Amino acid sequence: MKLVVGNQKAYLKRDEVLDFIEKTKNYDCSETIICPSSVYLDLYLDKSNYIVGSQDVGERPLGATTGEISADQLNSIGVAYSLVGHSERRKNQHETGPMLINKINRLFENDITPILCIGETQEEKELNVTKDVIGKQIMEVFDGLDQTKLEKIIIAYEPIWSIGTGLIPTNEEIEDTITYIKDLIVDKYDKRVAVLYGGSVNKGNIDELNKIDLVDGYLIGGASTKVEEFLYIMSKCE
Ligand code: 13P
Repeated sequence: MKLVVGNQKAYLKRDEVLDFIEKTKNYDCSETIICPSSVYLDLYLDKSNYIVGSQDVGERPLGATTGEISADQLNSIGVAYSLVGHSERRKNQHETGPMLINKINRLFENDITPILCIGETQEEKELNVTKDVIGKQIMEVFDGLDQTKLEKIIIAYEPIWSIGTGLIPTNEEIEDTITYIKDLIVDKYDKRVAVLYGGSVNKGNIDELNKIDLVDGYLIGGASTKVEEFLYIMSKCE
């Protein structure tokens, strides 16, 4: 079985979310995590049988932080997972390692599982520095956390050049990178963590990707907003 996590980003309006929930409600979604826009978290929690995750979390606890969503609030409505450091947020909101440490600490305090996103740009891939880049992204966060809790983190390896482009690494490249990630975390922190692959996962490539035993699951963007495609991927990951 592979873990399926849908990141619906800011793709859908409310009526489209309701339609998605309605059309998938007769399927067993109880092992699939869906991360909708925060304005729809409650809809999924009330009306669907998905496990619900947030796309982000605030750095600070409850209090005077206008516009932020605190982990305490996410926990109070039943959110079980949260993405942290998605490449779109690292780029657009300038999220840095210290910010991600704060976010993960807030999640730990509230028993919410962090899904830490890492990945290299096209340029970094061409320069052959993928492992340096993702190694740094892991260590700058892991070094700053309570070492006894590291095992609770899920890593999502998402090459930035693959997100939304239809391009994906070869199975050999994914296997090589995920081996590097897992080995680094065993060697340096003596921990085993689950690692997901993300970037243009769709119904056309899921069978091929599933051949990689090392991949513990997928973080799916665009295809998680399309009912038939998402159900198909879920059926292939049972
Ligand atoms: P796509 O599946 O649309 O490429 O997006 C991947 C992603 O960014 C999931 O977090």
